[in-house]
Amino acid sequence: MRKPYLLLVFILNQTLWILSVDAFSRQDFPPGFVFGAGTSANQVEGAANEDGRTPSIWDSSFSTIGEGSGGNTEVACDQYHKYKEDVQLMVDTGLDAYKFSISWSRLIPNGRGPVNPKGLQYYNNLINELISHGIQPHITLHHNDLPLALQDEYGGWISHKIVEDFTAYADVCFREFGDRVLYWSTVNEANMFSYGGYDVASMPPFRCSPPFGLMNCSAGNSTTEPYMVAHNILLAHASTVKLYRLKYQNKQHGFIGFILYTFAIDPVIKSKEEETAIQRVCDFYFGWFLHPLVYGDYPEIMKRNAGSRIPAFTNYESKLIKGSFDFVGVLYYSYLTIKDNPDSLKMQLRDFDADMAAILNYLGLITSSFPVEPWGLTSVLEYIKKAYGNPPVYIYENGQRTLRNSSLEDITRVNYLQGHIGGVLEALRHGSNTRGYFAWSFLDVLELFGGYNLSFGLYYVDMDDPNLKRYPKQSALWYSSFLKGENITGLDEVEKVSSLSYAQSSK
Ligand SMILES: *[C@@H]1O[C@H](CO)[C@@H](O)[C@H](O)[C@H]1NC(C)=O
Ligand SMILES: *[C@@H]1O[C@H](CO)[C@@H](O)[C@H](O)[C@H]1NC(C)=O
Ligand SMILES: *[C@@H]1O[C@H](CO)[C@@H](O)[C@H](O)[C@H]1NC(C)=O
Ligand SMILES: *[C@@H]1O[C@H](CO)[C@@H](O)[C@H](O)[C@H]1NC(C)=O
Ligand SMILES: *[C@@H]1O[C@H](CO)[C@@H](O)[C@H](O)[C@H]1NC(C)=O
Repeated sequence: MRKPYLLLVFILNQTLWILSVDAFSRQDFPPGFVFGAGTSANQVEGAANEDGRTPSIWDSSFSTIGEGSGGNTEVACDQYHKYKEDVQLMVDTGLDAYKFSISWSRLIPNGRGPVNPKGLQYYNNLINELISHGIQPHITLHHNDLPLALQDEYGGWISHKIVEDFTAYADVCFREFGDRVLYWSTVNEANMFSYGGYDVASMPPFRCSPPFGLMNCSAGNSTTEPYMVAHNILLAHASTVKLYRLKYQNKQHGFIGFILYTFAIDPVIKSKEEETAIQRVCDFYFGWFLHPLVYGDYPEIMKRNAGSRIPAFTNYESKLIKGSFDFVGVLYYSYLTIKDNPDSLKMQLRDFDADMAAILNYLGLITSSFPVEPWGLTSVLEYIKKAYGNPPVYIYENGQRTLRNSSLEDITRVNYLQGHIGGVLEALRHGSNTRGYFAWSFLDVLELFGGYNLSFGLYYVDMDDPNLKRYPKQSALWYSSFLKGENITGLDEVEKVSSLSYAQSSK
């Protein structure tokens, strides 16, 4: 086992503590702590060209995302037609909440203008189905799926025009659904979207410029666009939160937040330089958004290293952004190692990585399963608590990756979920303001990396069955039994869980 001390914590105040949560049950969590699972529109809905929906940047790049993996965005998991069945599965599992996203181009085709009545109807149906079964909807407005029309018209998030269009879209959502929906997030994993979509081209809209990028992009500018996109996301977010607070929050009593992709960093420190590099990585990846949201401006080190390529906030914008969130959504999968790379600052042409002057080593985590090292999640929650004033946090994604067609006996996922839920409990015991945990993903969805080859789901979807029948994996049974209050202590308990009768398992 890895030594249980936590570097991020260590850096901040030399605290050492031991991960001590082995046996626990749901009753150990504070009252009101929410457990759920999540998906996103483009990954589960299907019906991509049905009832007036137009393509998003995700549909248009599906050939890149899902190549050779079978399935497509036209079908995905067909939740558009099977939402009632899926909500019933959520009930059977014992979920308190479901996190999903609205497809902007389904609700407002082409991104701007009139609302599509069929789109409106679908989301009303889904929300009503959830509410009538006592399941809390948590909605994300943008989950990597900007309407393609806006991308084509003015470059999407690169342009300041997005601020007005995004705010208008959010206005429709608050107006139409806000009487029943209390948890809103503006932009999913904004840091990875800006970096992955515009610097290294690992995700839609796949923009980059040489010598940067994992592919030969047809357009983009890796040295400037990630910063421009992040800037416009922050402005669109702040504008949306202002609207929500002025026009809706008093009567709807909901909460609005922002979602960040996080990772922990391997706790083995080799030198003073590496310690500084770790802080720099935290500032670049997390501070990029959290610093403006909490303190009103980008971290000093980013401004210094990116110079004029990182846009400046006006005083008005800075005030608007500062404090513009009720909670932080955290996505967490794994820890990684980093390497100090001071030489990159000597390069004439620099991208985000070069400005950060550090190299992240993903330990081959792009395709394999993640190690069960819950201290990583605990350390991220601890870091957010200490560096950003302990805001309310919802863990909106956490889960284990396996090959899609591997066994329903997904013990590795059970171990991962159990370990990481224990890691959350550990953070709570150290004062973290975490309010909820959502497993990624409810179903085997169309994944951003690997399409249908890889999966995170609690439920397997049989793509060879015309009805796309869902089957609970071991992890669904484990989670269900945990949610229903049984003590969960380890694999012995898992054996017990597997013998539980399960409403949906055979029909
Ligand atoms: C980019 O294009 C060049 C020239 O056609 C080719 O040699 C190279 O392998 C391509 N790189 C990637 C990552 O596809
Ligand atoms: C990227 O933008 C910068 C600043 O506008 C410019 O100097 C540079 O030439 C651009 N690079 C590419 C590849 O277009
Ligand atoms: C699962 O898929 C992989 C790659 O697509 C393939 O190599 C493997 O044989 C499949 N396994 C099963 C059990 O079908
Ligand atoms: C999925 O697996 C197949 C078979 O191994 C491979 O040809 C294809 O490139 C993979 N697709 C993705 C998106 O990983
Ligand atoms: C669960 O664990 C607690 C504390 O160890 C114990 O008091 C309780 O009886 C256990 N419940 C069950 C159903 O085993």
